[in-house]
Amino acid sequence: MTSRRIRQWKKAVADGKIRSLGLSNWYIEEIDDFISQVDIRPALVQNEIHPYYQEQAVVPYMHNLGIVMQAWYPFGGRGHTGELLSDETIVKIAKAHNVTAAQVILRWHLQRGVVAIPGSSDPAHILENISVFGFSLSSEEMNEIAALDRNEKHDWY
Ligand SMILES: NC(=O)c1ccc[n+]([C@@H]2O[C@H](COP(=O)([O-])OP(=O)(O)OC[C@H]3O[C@@H](n4cnc5c(N)ncnc54)[C@H](OP(=O)(O)O)[C@@H]3O)[C@@H](O)[C@H]2O)c1
Repeated sequence: MTSRRIRQWKKAVADGKIRSLGLSNWYIEEIDDFISQVDIRPALVQNEIHPYYQEQAVVPYMHNLGIVMQAWYPFGGRGHTGELLSDETIVKIAKAHNVTAAQVILRWHLQRGVVAIPGSSDPAHILENISVFGFSLSSEEMNEIAALDRNEKHDWY
């Protein structure tokens, strides 16, 4: 963020026009630089996060700063969901819980403390995506999904 933007933002906070701040596509270096210049801690950072791109360093770093992490492309993003939703590890875990692969992925995000914002225009998928509170993944299953990380980012903004 430029110094001009930071000055504008500080003024908006001082004028009471902004009470909290969310950032998107911010990483460790950027957040350290930013928070050293401002006196309000960002509430949330939204980044690409899914089992093939897990942000294993960034997520705990933000959590330690008290910042909520939010996942965009929680299923890998349009054009990439097919591979992730048919990943054999995810499908195996889904079968064990009698849920869908999408529900396993959302549950993994939730249990990591990451807020997921799945995109869907299908009412049945939307219902499925909010129905993730009737089961939980074991630590072994969380570790199996952690092992799927490929550092494979699908978009840059
Ligand atoms: N801040 C940023 O830079 C940034 C960048 C990119 C995206 N985003 C935001 O991130 C959010 C998610 O992005 P996205 O929608 O592109 O990616 P996504 O949530 O990873 O994937 C959406 C795809 O998954 C399918 N899907 C959803 N639920 C499903 C289910 N239960 N079973 C099977 N398929 C399912 C959807 O198809 P159906 O419609 O058929 O369900 C759609 O094709 C959006 O709000 C977007 O605006 C933010």
